Amino acid sequence: MQAQPLSSLDQWDDFVASRYREGKSEEEFRQYSPETNPGVAEFYRQNHAGQTVDFVRAKRAEYLSLQRGRKSIWEAAEYLNALVDDSDPDTDLSQIDHLLQTSEAIRKDGHPRWMVLAGLLHDLGKCLCLYGEPQWAVVGDTFPVGCAWSDQIVYREYFSANPDRDVAEYQTEYGIYEPHCGLDKVMLSWGHDEYIYHVTKPYMPEPAQYMLRYHSFYPAHKHGAYRHLMNQHDEEMFEWVRKFNPYDLYSKGAERPKLSEIKPYYEDLVAEYFPAQIDW
Ligand SMILES: [Fe+2]
Ligand SMILES: [Fe+2]
Repeated sequence: MQAQPLSSLDQWDDFVASRYREGKSEEEFRQYSPETNPGVAEFYRQNHAGQTVDFVRAKRAEYLSLQRGRKSIWEAAEYLNALVDDSDPDTDLSQIDHLLQTSEAIRKDGHPRWMVLAGLLHDLGKCLCLYGEPQWAVVGDTFPVGCAWSDQIVYREYFSANPDRDVAEYQTEYGIYEPHCGLDKVMLSWGHDEYIYHVTKPYMPEPAQYMLRYHSFYPAHKHGAYRHLMNQHDEEMFEWVRKFNPYDLYSKGAERPKLSEIKPYYEDLVAEYFPAQIDW
């Protein structure tokens, strides 16, 4: 396996958050330079070289039949916490802390219960790392494969190493898709979003499904790219994706949630939507 370029998966989340901070200074633009941020640049180099149509098809076949056993939501969260990485000096927050900070911020703003629940669940798919997937196949801004790469994808130049570059059919605006076919028919680069969407789909209302499935699709929800593949329903549902995004990006500075105090609320919430165990 390739070396893992990020000191932890959070390093990618932190990079995205810094990209979209208000009032960007000159200094912040330098964060894109491989000299300033070598781990992040190398991570995107691997991601953009490796996320091909064939790769995404293979991972969907491998994981979306949900043959990795049954777990409760809480067991999945505990399992993910094994990812805590002491080599990241910036944070001593666990994965569960990030999930609870996100969901608590949503709860404080008075959003529906299913949206609070989406906050709690949204990164549980990062357990792909514990299944042995490299970082570049777990996190990263997502984008469609099988059609031309948008200029709105960060570090777009790294696609020069992607073998799909040589497949003419994949390099047109629509590629293997039909105009406005709807995102459900479009394969995005493989990662934690698609996985958690499939695991939780039978139990969550549709706006929450969109939040989970597209929360890393920054080229679309932040930059308006790929509207030629979206249908009217996607356009409407993306309002929810955009509503969700700030809680994912900016709840990190919040104080560390005290699980013992809020656990009863979340026990109830999870039990309202999920059976005791689900397929992963
Ligand atoms: Fe995420
Ligand atoms: Fe997140």
